[in-house]
Amino acid sequence: MAKIAYYNGQYGPHSQAMVHIDDRGYQFADGIYEVCLVIGGRYWDMEGHLARMERSLGALRIRMPMGVAALKVVMNEVLRRNRLGDALVYIQVTRGVAPRNHPFPADEVAPALIMTARRFDLDQSDAQAAKGVGVITAPDIRWGRVDIKSISLLPNVLAKQAAVEAGAVETWLVRDGKVTEGSSSNAWIVTADGVLITHPKGHDILGGITRETALACAKDLQMRVEERAFSISEAQKAAEAFITSATNLVTPVVEIDGVKIGDGAPGRIALRLREAYKERARRVSGT
Ligand code: PDD
Repeated sequence: MAKIAYYNGQYGPHSQAMVHIDDRGYQFADGIYEVCLVIGGRYWDMEGHLARMERSLGALRIRMPMGVAALKVVMNEVLRRNRLGDALVYIQVTRGVAPRNHPFPADEVAPALIMTARRFDLDQSDAQAAKGVGVITAPDIRWGRVDIKSISLLPNVLAKQAAVEAGAVETWLVRDGKVTEGSSSNAWIVTADGVLITHPKGHDILGGITRETALACAKDLQMRVEERAFSISEAQKAAEAFITSATNLVTPVVEIDGVKIGDGAPGRIALRLREAYKERARRVSGT
């Protein structure tokens, strides 16, 4: 079955989906995106993703391409037309099409919305979580507003490529001696006495929707949490480590820069949180 995408206000074959060469996303990375996880035909954390999308657009002074209710219709229609149960849906909004010039277009242009979907293999993700993943570290060379989910991702791309070349799954980014987050996920550690630690929200991390749900799960499970920065050496001495994102859910980290974390096996708390996350996301998922 041909994959279907939403672009230029219509649904059509993914392979033929084209956008204008003067799209400001293409020329300036002038836009934002969201990646949403869908399990069993239902969006996980949909409201959170939509709220963040509005926030990111507001920060860049790009208007919403359509109302939230209409967006939900398109999000569900993309799933339906691709006959997907478990999926990752990519949503991108750019400032629109205008002759190349740095300032915002003087004339009102319509924001350009695209949406694509691809199959997500939950079994494969579970298998990866059961084994745990390795991460490497690199300097965080990104701009000062990474809380905006901008499509300007070059430093993230370079960091992720470095991970792949090192046989790892993620790169944790380090600024002023502290881990901010991963190239496409949030970073967590668990201390010897079971306290979960993750960088606080602010301009220097993306406030992950999965991070938010994981925090809520940790609270439900009466786990102790500290939202504070940690160093690589603290992480390497931690009892456990893990990453969160729509694409990884909660995935244990078993190695940081070649150093084994704990006994080198996925941590008990991380795995428990992963189960709790799946349970909670199923319960509150929207369509
Ligand atoms: N990335 N930090 C960064 C830099 C990210 O790019 C992401 C998500 C996250 C986690 O956010 P969330 O829990 O809302 O997925 C944190 C997506 C999945 C991506 O770029 O593919």
